[in-house]
Amino acid sequence: MSAFITGTGLFVPEHVITNDELVSSYNCYVEQYNSEYSDEIKSGKREELKESSVEFIEKASGIRKRHVVDKDGVLDSRRMKPRIPGRENHEMSLQCEMAVAAASQALDNARLGGEDLDMIIVACSNLERAYPAVSIEVQERLCASGFALDMNVACSSATFAIQAASDALNNGSAQRVLVVNPEICSAHLDFRDRDSHFIFGDICTAIVLESDESRKDSDVFEVVSTRLRTKFSSNIRNNFGFLNRCDDNLENRKDTLFIQEGRKVFKEVVPLVSNHILEHLYQIELAPERVRRLWLHQANLSMNQLVAKRVWGRPANADEAPVVLDHYANTSSAGSIIAFHRYNKDLSDGELGLLCSFGAGYSVGSVVLRKINSTL
Ligand code: COA
Repeated sequence: MSAFITGTGLFVPEHVITNDELVSSYNCYVEQYNSEYSDEIKSGKREELKESSVEFIEKASGIRKRHVVDKDGVLDSRRMKPRIPGRENHEMSLQCEMAVAAASQALDNARLGGEDLDMIIVACSNLERAYPAVSIEVQERLCASGFALDMNVACSSATFAIQAASDALNNGSAQRVLVVNPEICSAHLDFRDRDSHFIFGDICTAIVLESDESRKDSDVFEVVSTRLRTKFSSNIRNNFGFLNRCDDNLENRKDTLFIQEGRKVFKEVVPLVSNHILEHLYQIELAPERVRRLWLHQANLSMNQLVAKRVWGRPANADEAPVVLDHYANTSSAGSIIAFHRYNKDLSDGELGLLCSFGAGYSVGSVVLRKINSTL
């Protein structure tokens, strides 16, 4: 038995925020803050805030813009968070709406209907409610049978879900699986934090996996092998959770949103990821040169360049390791899937690629994929 990716889909929110817009809103907030607290700043009780800069953001990260579900709320310097009104229980939830949009495209590409699915995994870094699982709502909307589950392994959620889906297909507990990654990162990002306000964007990716690819005429990838690794670290962390309301000292704590030690993450994750990929390839007796393309997690341009260089022993070009973070920023678990979705058509029969995500946990997931030709 085996597993095949037979379709992918992408839902992109229409609102776009450029670095210029983001920085001017942040700097407006800085001006307001510094003038409001000028006495405390003068007396040393508070630190003066420093301005952000487009040059820094582009140089340090490679990010140029991001898509978000709500632009005005984020750019309002008195608010600095998206405006996302709560929905009634009878209405479709936002993550379900994004998931259905991306899934419909992936299902079209796989020439399937929702009713053909028998397993759905919603895999992302933030889920909008505790229960019922968002995936079960997606299952209902798509008229799918079988079962559904939510999972969260932060930025690695998609690759961890691909392994779970492949295992289910291989052991016969499912025939057709949807993995969907509705990432609303703008809602967990502190837009008042200069070190990280530029990092994330919102998006949703979807992947259809099947145990039988024999009906397909194009763009099918066999899942050759998967490998996952986790290693505990608090360098990327978010303490938001159901216990927050029981903590009487919660006010003024910034750690119920995304926080990170960016420098440490950079230094520790590059070797972790490149060694993981090399070990994975060694384990399946595949020379790195046989890998035609790396679809890497999209958090930082230099980080990806370094990972690719360590894997191949030479710098990679944009064709070999495509970049999408300049357009979408870091979209957590969706990043490597966007790269795969946008850059896979040109691979020829038998060519191999490697999908790899990494992030909080730490967590690393790699998936070796082989393009297979028309079987119709
Ligand atoms: N505008 C202008 N200057 C800024 C700034 C901003 N928005 N944010 C930080 N700076 C300044 C800092 O204050 C610091 O100044 P100093 O040298 O005078 O102290 C300087 O720029 C360097 O800051 P640093 O935080 O060390 O930047 P960096 O080069 O490490 O880049 C990241 C920051 C976050 C882009 C980078 O560390 C990164 O991407 N790390 C990996 C993160 C990652 O993959 N996370 C996974 C998330 S899922």
